[in-house]
Amino acid sequence: MSFPKGFLWGGATAANQYEGAYLEGGKGPAVADALTGGDGIHNIPRKFIVEMPDGTRKEFGSRDEIPEGAKAIIDPDTYYPSHMATDFYHHWKEDIGLMAEMGCNVNRISINWTRIFPNGDDAEPNEEGLKFYEDVFKECRRLGIEPLVTIYHFDMPLHLANEYDGMASRHTLEAFKRYAKTIFTRYKGLVHYWLTINEININTNFMMNGVHEHISNKQKAEQCRWNLFVASAYAVKAGHEIDPENKIGLMIAHGATYPYSCNPEDVFEEIEVAHNQKWFYGDVQVRGYYPAWKVKELEREGIVIQKEPGEDELLKEGTVDFYSFSYYSSSTYAAHPEKLGESAGNMVRGVKNPYLQASEWGWTIDPLGLRINLNQIWDRYQIPMMIVENGLGAIDKREADGSVHDTYRIDYMRKHIQVMKDAVEKDGVDLMGYTPWGWIDVVSAGTGEMRKRYGFVYVDMDDEGHGDMSRSRKDSFYYMQKVYKSNGEDID
Ligand code: BG6
Repeated sequence: MSFPKGFLWGGATAANQYEGAYLEGGKGPAVADALTGGDGIHNIPRKFIVEMPDGTRKEFGSRDEIPEGAKAIIDPDTYYPSHMATDFYHHWKEDIGLMAEMGCNVNRISINWTRIFPNGDDAEPNEEGLKFYEDVFKECRRLGIEPLVTIYHFDMPLHLANEYDGMASRHTLEAFKRYAKTIFTRYKGLVHYWLTINEININTNFMMNGVHEHISNKQKAEQCRWNLFVASAYAVKAGHEIDPENKIGLMIAHGATYPYSCNPEDVFEEIEVAHNQKWFYGDVQVRGYYPAWKVKELEREGIVIQKEPGEDELLKEGTVDFYSFSYYSSSTYAAHPEKLGESAGNMVRGVKNPYLQASEWGWTIDPLGLRINLNQIWDRYQIPMMIVENGLGAIDKREADGSVHDTYRIDYMRKHIQVMKDAVEKDGVDLMGYTPWGWIDVVSAGTGEMRKRYGFVYVDMDDEGHGDMSRSRKDSFYYMQKVYKSNGEDID
């Protein structure tokens, strides 16, 4: 047997891309609810409509810098894909049933911060929101599925973003702590696996996290990173105190990174990019302190982080139990990238890798990169790992009978599961679970599209909000069912 008994097989989603019902059940608006749809193939970004300090309105791309004092608004005449998403809020029983049918024993799901605290910093939590997730978790457990809960996945409360500069402020940090404590307490015994902050390495600085002036104000951007690390460490510590049974992981977008050539300059370029993009975040959350190169960089740039007494210690006390990450693709870096051609991905753009094919959205398809990752992470940290996102975003065609013949997705999954198997069997890494992204179709985070589908279950919903939300099983559903029910033995 390659995969240990009890290996966690499942699927992953995030509330802001899946739940819909954006103001139902007492939920408040989040930043994700103020993001329009975009078009990833033609490079048209998602947008925020923003009210400027002088009262005028302007549009900004989702990663643009938004000026101090400007507020993202929700315009009644604009279509926002998260408002309905794929309506988990009204389909949760059916969807959890499908998960069980697929053979899952884990469900990675996120709690919408604004369903629990509508403004993010309310005095009391919203009981209706708490009850919703309680019912969801109970149903999972009834069907033999462990919930794996992301505490914060791209859904900064809009109020905290607009009024308190999101995670750049202490006010938001304190609100997050209250929120984390509330859900640990309420779901004690129901949830044993948690992730603190989704893709903390790409989630750090822009408006998605509520932060204004994130490009021009490096001091603030670094303060925001610190606050996020403190938030995560606090959650780990509090989660352990509230229930020692809790296992709590970090969540990093951990694509593989390569130097473009054996030119030492390219090799060093890759080391620097990898430090900045991923290892920094792993080092802090696994080891509990900033790596030397980062300390030097902050000193050099004259950046002084404002710390509260005890926070350095908290980082050490709140190190994670396992290393979980998303893996979609790899990127390649050159010291002199001019003329080498760009490639795309969910992290940053590198140069084109001549050895790899890419998806319709330009993300490279690189199964071996996953085995490289598993080895590198294991060598560096020696703690259990979980792959909490992986998959292929593609345009699917649903036939009249509801079937979807997604052979391309099956091929992608098979190759990635094969390298996981190799890493466990031949390299001896400690891998505890696998939750492919968007096991059921959800709205794309990067582009706001519905047509960029990852699911094994198709949901009838399009980019303009048309569709009856009916669910149907794709061919990949039956493939994954076979893999899961054989504990990863039967992958052909
Ligand atoms: C990760 C996020 O970046 O990748 C998910 O954690 C996201 O929220 C996923 O959906 C895939 O990215 P995209 O842009 O294709 O939805």
